[in-house]
Amino acid sequence: MEPTDHNLRAWDEVHRRRAESLEPGLPPPVRHALADLKGKRVLTLQSGTGESAAQLADLGATVTGVDNSTEALAASRERWPRILWIEGDVQSLPRELRRGRFDLVYAGWNVDEVHDLDGWAAGIASALSAGGDLLMFDEHPAAKSVDGLMHWREDYFGEDKHLPNWRLGQIVTAVARAGLVVRALEEYPEQPGNPRHHDARVPGTFLLHARRP
Ligand SMILES: C[S@@+](CC[C@H](N)C(=O)[O-])C[C@H]1O[C@@H](n2cnc3c(N)ncnc32)[C@H](O)[C@@H]1O
Repeated sequence: MEPTDHNLRAWDEVHRRRAESLEPGLPPPVRHALADLKGKRVLTLQSGTGESAAQLADLGATVTGVDNSTEALAASRERWPRILWIEGDVQSLPRELRRGRFDLVYAGWNVDEVHDLDGWAAGIASALSAGGDLLMFDEHPAAKSVDGLMHWREDYFGEDKHLPNWRLGQIVTAVARAGLVVRALEEYPEQPGNPRHHDARVPGTFLLHARRP
């Protein structure tokens, strides 16, 4: 089914509102999963306004943030000059980030904007050192199929080139295909941006932990 302009606008609006309602920084399940990061090299993908990268640095890590927005990077650089901010596309990471030297790659609230899932996963694998970890936290793809009243509205299996809505299986498979070993996949009922109509029977977010062997 081709998306109509109306559908595209509605989709953009939902995602704009969700992005605005996200608490900046690391979500609680990510904070809980993180051990001491002293001496660790961490790469934050699609670093956005930089809060997550700054919190990872507060945990002792040496952090690099990558984003494709010059404006976002300039603002982050001004607020946190000790973090290295690099402009780049996460689907074809800059060469200097593909040298297998990161102990942790953090990908938070990213997947909506990824059109090439295999390129994204291959970049993560090439950034990680042997034994390095990927932590990915995002909205659960099933949550995008329900509306604000928790009525199932969208086709979870619908393929739509204009609106990437990767299924959980596609995300995990891309990570495995890039050579990472899945260690854990947790699902949570919380759906950010929709606290009033939250229905705990519907998955809201997920946390994927994978490791480069
Ligand atoms: C929702 S924010 C990310 C939030 C952040 N990761 C966090 O944990 O708080 C999305 C960011 O992705 C960036 N972005 C979108 N597409 C990108 C791409 N292909 N490569 C790199 N960054 C991208 C945007 O500039 C924006 O700053």
